[in-house]
Amino acid sequence: MNTLPAVVSRIPLGRWAVLVCLSITSHAVCAAAPGERGPQDTIAERVRACTACHGKEGRATSEGYYPRIAGKPAGYLYNQLQNFRDGRRRNATMTYLVANLPDAYLREIAEYFAAEHPPYAPPPVADATQPVLERGRQLAISGDAAKNIPACAACHGNALTGVIPAIPGLLGLPRDYLKSQFGAWLIGARHAAAPDCMAEVARRLGAKDLSAVIAYLAAQPVPASATPAASAAGKPPLECGSFAPQKSAP
Ligand code: HEC
Ligand code: HEC
Repeated sequence: MNTLPAVVSRIPLGRWAVLVCLSITSHAVCAAAPGERGPQDTIAERVRACTACHGKEGRATSEGYYPRIAGKPAGYLYNQLQNFRDGRRRNATMTYLVANLPDAYLREIAEYFAAEHPPYAPPPVADATQPVLERGRQLAISGDAAKNIPACAACHGNALTGVIPAIPGLLGLPRDYLKSQFGAWLIGARHAAAPDCMAEVARRLGAKDLSAVIAYLAAQPVPASATPAASAAGKPPLECGSFAPQKSAP
């Protein structure tokens, strides 16, 4: 994995007393001097620290692990930034980058990436057999009532492209990233506000079904017009504490 020396510093800068800077070489990209609103003082410039890993406009890279952040519901992105900051989700780099950033700034960063809609790369070639992909499709779209597994689509939207304000889409994510998220829920390294429905979904999926649904999701092309649905199709099969943006830290 990339080990970029990234620096988040506090610099008095207009409305925000913070600035996300990145020094790839010894050169910090945050150019504006304290108190000065130079030409580079735009949110696009300030989130360069993010696009170094998450790709131009947050579209992900060909590196294969960094998740796309562009176009995800703002409430979802905001919750994740809070989760990294407050220890509900573990990733040393992400936690380091957002440590000490106030909620209002996290919200601004979240809204910036939520409004970006760059194109998706074509999906990688599926590495599973047709019956496995078909099982994955069934779980994603219909679930398996006999095994008490809810359909992913029941919460993530009929097109699996997420739901406003805080449910992420499931398409266009790297296979390794998907695997790692389920691993994190199972070992308690990723939490959302209680009740943490995804931890419950992860527990209900056995290893075989989990591989199948991941293989299916990672192999789906994403329609160019994919955006999160405006509202959920019906009553969710489980309660989730993170259906909405989390409250600000006290
Ligand atoms: C050094 C690389 C790196 C940089 C720089 C970086 N990220 Fe990340 N980010 C990651 C990795 C890796 C993950 C996945 C962590 C995991 O496995 O849970 C991640 C996850 C995320 C997520 C969760 C995505 C999801 O779908 O749940 C968000 C949101 C995010 N980053 C936003 C940002 C923002 C905003 C910045 C700039 C302030 C940033 N990242 C900078 C590596 C980076
Ligand atoms: C009861 C509603 C519900 C169901 C059913 C559900 N999810 Fe989720 N899922 C959520 C919520 C809410 C989140 C956001 C959690 C958070 O804020 O961390 C989420 C997040 C995720 C993420 C994280 C995406 C990212 O970018 O990091 C993945 C992956 C995921 N779900 C996969 C699935 C799969 C696969 C299924 C079907 C087997 C499924 N979910 C079924 C509610 C649900």
